[in-house]
Amino acid sequence: MRNQATAALRAAGVMAAGLFFAGVSLADTPGLPIRATDIATKWDTLYNFLVGLSVFFFVLVIGAMLYFVFKYRAKPGVKTKYIADHHLLEGVWTFIPFVLLMVIFVWGYAVYDRMITAPSTAMEIRVIGKQWLWQFQYEDGRSTVNEVYVPVNQPVKLVMTSTDVLHSFFIPNFRVKQDVVPGMYSSVWFEATVPGKHQVFCTEYCGAAHSQMLAQVIALGPEDWENWKRGRKILAEDIPKAGTSASVQTDKTVASAAAAIPATKPQLTLVEQGKAQFSAMGCVACHSPDGSSKGALGPSLKGVFGSHVDLVSGSKVVADENYLRESIENPMAKIVKGFNPVMPTFKGQVSETQLNALIAYIKSLK
Ligand code: CUA
Repeated sequence: MRNQATAALRAAGVMAAGLFFAGVSLADTPGLPIRATDIATKWDTLYNFLVGLSVFFFVLVIGAMLYFVFKYRAKPGVKTKYIADHHLLEGVWTFIPFVLLMVIFVWGYAVYDRMITAPSTAMEIRVIGKQWLWQFQYEDGRSTVNEVYVPVNQPVKLVMTSTDVLHSFFIPNFRVKQDVVPGMYSSVWFEATVPGKHQVFCTEYCGAAHSQMLAQVIALGPEDWENWKRGRKILAEDIPKAGTSASVQTDKTVASAAAAIPATKPQLTLVEQGKAQFSAMGCVACHSPDGSSKGALGPSLKGVFGSHVDLVSGSKVVADENYLRESIENPMAKIVKGFNPVMPTFKGQVSETQLNALIAYIKSLK
């Protein structure tokens, strides 16, 4: 019996290891989209480990079950011995799963942590989900719909919100996904390593045209990215799908498509749009952008972003995007220490794109 058990264990181990290493060593995992970020590789390695582990225990448990069913089947005149307990065996089958689950937990947490923590150097793009399209706002003031242009090999952080219902922004090739929630900001980041077009899906059921709420991440090589930054219009239909075949993935293909399109006119940057909005809405009457708040009705907004703000309630709050948004839409929620609750609400008076511009402006007041 010991020999058969060892043989079964060995068979299960070989199968699991084979699957695991096949998955890890291949450039792509069978059945999964291409890997176009470093996270995707980490994610796939963990995924293959989990599949391998599951196959190992499936073969082991089902194999042992079939073996015992056969070996200890009812025979006339034979009465099976009654076994009360076996502490060593119980200890082993508790301890091994415990160790395995802790490995999965720590490993999974490490990948998740890397996935959600954007590097501080990440370039920011604002995303607005609405029934049923995706809008993108860039720092240079441009805005695109259902196409987002990013450089390869540079971290990009998407700061996202929704104008209506829950959506979810999912880029399978990058293995990143994040819910997009009305009334607040959530974020996701990636560093694309493969140039070309990458499909984006909405993965939260959001109404009739949910399945058509699609977008493309257009990852540009260094030369094309410079062209895009200089204001050249690059047409998404000229960009090949990422990873379809190695031959179409050269920067040259993308560059020649880009070069054919004339440059677009310069415009206000997102910060400049926010500044104009700040004056137009009269914010400047109470909030000075230059640090002086003596005698003013509201606190100065200089250096406010990322700072710890003291509130009347005695607590402190970190001034992030969600805090700024709340203070514009619901000013009574958190009153800054030393000021009176006199600010009117601007809820419904500023669009999501204007809010993004306002917040970009406030962030720029250092
Ligand atoms: Cu948006 Cu589903």
